[in-house]
Amino acid sequence: MAKITLTTLNKMKASREKFSVLTSYDATFSHVVSNAGIEAILVGDSLGMVLQGHDSTLPVTLEAMVYHTECVSRGNQGALIIADMPFMSFANPEMTLLNAAKLMAVGANIVKLEGGAWLKDTVQQLNRNGIPCCIHMGLTPQSVNVFGGYKVQGRGGAAAQLLADAEQLAEAGAALFVLECVPSPLAKQITERVNVPVIGIGAGPDTDGQVLVLHDMLGISPGKPARFVKNFLAEADSIPAAIKAFALAVKSGTYPAEEHGFQE
Ligand code: KIV
Ligand code: NA
Repeated sequence: MAKITLTTLNKMKASREKFSVLTSYDATFSHVVSNAGIEAILVGDSLGMVLQGHDSTLPVTLEAMVYHTECVSRGNQGALIIADMPFMSFANPEMTLLNAAKLMAVGANIVKLEGGAWLKDTVQQLNRNGIPCCIHMGLTPQSVNVFGGYKVQGRGGAAAQLLADAEQLAEAGAALFVLECVPSPLAKQITERVNVPVIGIGAGPDTDGQVLVLHDMLGISPGKPARFVKNFLAEADSIPAAIKAFALAVKSGTYPAEEHGFQE
């Protein structure tokens, strides 16, 4: 597969071609996912739950993110690698630069940070140092204790604030956005307003890209799946086939369907 860069994703946004993203945490899955034509791999701090068995992402360390990013990088066949900055690793711009550099040094192409407009300075400083960043907004799992649970964000009056934050961050130089569990109409509006690609999860059908946790879309995560999850292995006869089915469903617009999204 030709190497995917931010330029590729920007061109896809401009031509309204949907792209897909899946998490991976190791070399084998990174190989399978990138070979299946998934444009970007997210080394998510969801690994705290998926691999380590914690009940939140808060215990994930930078060292763990570096280790898994390195593993993913070795197996990758040309996908863009997005690496999560874990809980409290980007509390001020100085520490963010040092920590992001460690992820970039082992093969990340872009780092992802959960937050809002308060990250503007951080975004600028990262860019000045050659590190592009993705801002994760909406339901940001590292703030689960602030939200009081994993709840849909951006409803009612909070919608205008989320849109304003996204616009300011795009202006500051954010290269990508992830919108998690926000009403579909808000995700559509943000996707239209910012000039960089927006990736959704539980954000409806209108974002530029879609991301899922790999283990969720293979139907092997414990517990009741979230509303936006679809098990792609249920109708496929192998893991590579399930991943290809996800890529095709995103590309053709059949996933996510209306019922996978949230209303205002
Ligand atoms: O860590 C992760 O897997 C994520 C996605 C759910 C967007 O941040
Ligand atoms: Na994450």
